[in-house]
Amino acid sequence: MTTGFSDLIPRAQAVLRANDVEIFTRPGPHQYPHQWNWDSAVIALGLSRFDLPRALTEIRSLISGQWRDGMIPHVVYHFTPSDYFPDPAFWQIENSPDAPPVPTSGITQPPLLATVIREIHRRTPIPDFIREAYPALLRWHGWLHTTRNADGSGLVCIIHPWESGTDDSPRWLSAMADITPTETPPFRRGDIRHVAAGERPHDADYERFVHLIDVFRRDCYEPAALLAHSPFLVQDVLFNSILYRANEDLRALALMLGEPTDEIEGWLNRMRANFDARFWEEKRGLYLDYNLRANKPIAVNTAVTFVPLYAGLATDGQARRLIHEHWLNPEEYAPERPIHFSLTTVSRTEPTWEARRYWRGPVWIILNWLLTGGLARYGFDRLAEMLRRDSLELMNHSGFREYYDPRDGSGCGSTDFSWSAALALEFLAEEAAVVRQRRASRA
Ligand code: DGY
Repeated sequence: MTTGFSDLIPRAQAVLRANDVEIFTRPGPHQYPHQWNWDSAVIALGLSRFDLPRALTEIRSLISGQWRDGMIPHVVYHFTPSDYFPDPAFWQIENSPDAPPVPTSGITQPPLLATVIREIHRRTPIPDFIREAYPALLRWHGWLHTTRNADGSGLVCIIHPWESGTDDSPRWLSAMADITPTETPPFRRGDIRHVAAGERPHDADYERFVHLIDVFRRDCYEPAALLAHSPFLVQDVLFNSILYRANEDLRALALMLGEPTDEIEGWLNRMRANFDARFWEEKRGLYLDYNLRANKPIAVNTAVTFVPLYAGLATDGQARRLIHEHWLNPEEYAPERPIHFSLTTVSRTEPTWEARRYWRGPVWIILNWLLTGGLARYGFDRLAEMLRRDSLELMNHSGFREYYDPRDGSGCGSTDFSWSAALALEFLAEEAAVVRQRRASRA
């Protein structure tokens, strides 16, 4: 290989092995000792490159946390105790008739799993495994499209910033400011034990994260009650883009199995029909999230605006505007002093931009990976290549960290972060494929 990063392969595999606790992989050895939903999907993708049976175990373990009504939760606590907060008892899921026998959280996370399973199958056919996993995927997507279809548009809503996977994104600031945490149960943050407080969410966010859990547990996780009472109710561009793409992948799996696809087609059609009207702001040329409680778009410019490219939901004209007016704009996302590495998670024009704080500005490998695919899909090959290179440079120099300071590339958050390692394997394989393609076209 001519990439210059080839020793990243054994280093990435070693991180995934070290975080392996046999039935699942800890996202981070100290900070995240349980199984997280979308982390796990990405980890399975990386594992499948060198240990397919172990990748399938990862997925089975995640599915074992599925609720009786179909939700696949954001955290599955296979082994306890740990110093992670919230501990499983805090969620009180046993008060829901839908709770599974395994301890889990009571909320969900971006549904990447169907996409990952289809991709693993594309590399190495796993028809028996698909037959096994398909009913769980269908039930999860069905749960999203019924219990989270708050306005009947087919676009799903989330009820907690943790469901977005981008916990303290400034996208949620105004919705969070509308929440007055009352009678918040006593708690002690566990997340600032292993990581500097300046790289984690502010206390004000955390208090609201906990308050929301308290609201949900008082409603015993009854889905209709949560929609009625959750003070946080938003439609997230990232979550809906990931779900749209996952529905396409689910449809492909159904076709392969000879299962009916009408229901999935219905979800896809409704999402596509309503996506632009809800999220696209023509004036600024941005996709914006929507606050259903306040009934208005959330006018905050973050890198999530580019994620519809990953799902193929943008027209060519929209894609051009996103790239030319925003991605390449040195005041927003383009690397220009003080930024050296792409892609900062928040536009530099946002007053809340912070270089090292969680989802307030650092580079996240997951976003870079989703967007590399999105850019390539719309023919922005050179930008896709630059994004892949930046990701590999960051991991090569600073190790597999949870996120990176876009100014100097130094690592932040958890060390030895599993999905960064898994995605290094993905980026390296993609890069090798590009090199092969170039050689073939020169020959
Ligand atoms: C955390 O604990 O910070 C997680 O992001 C919540 O899922």
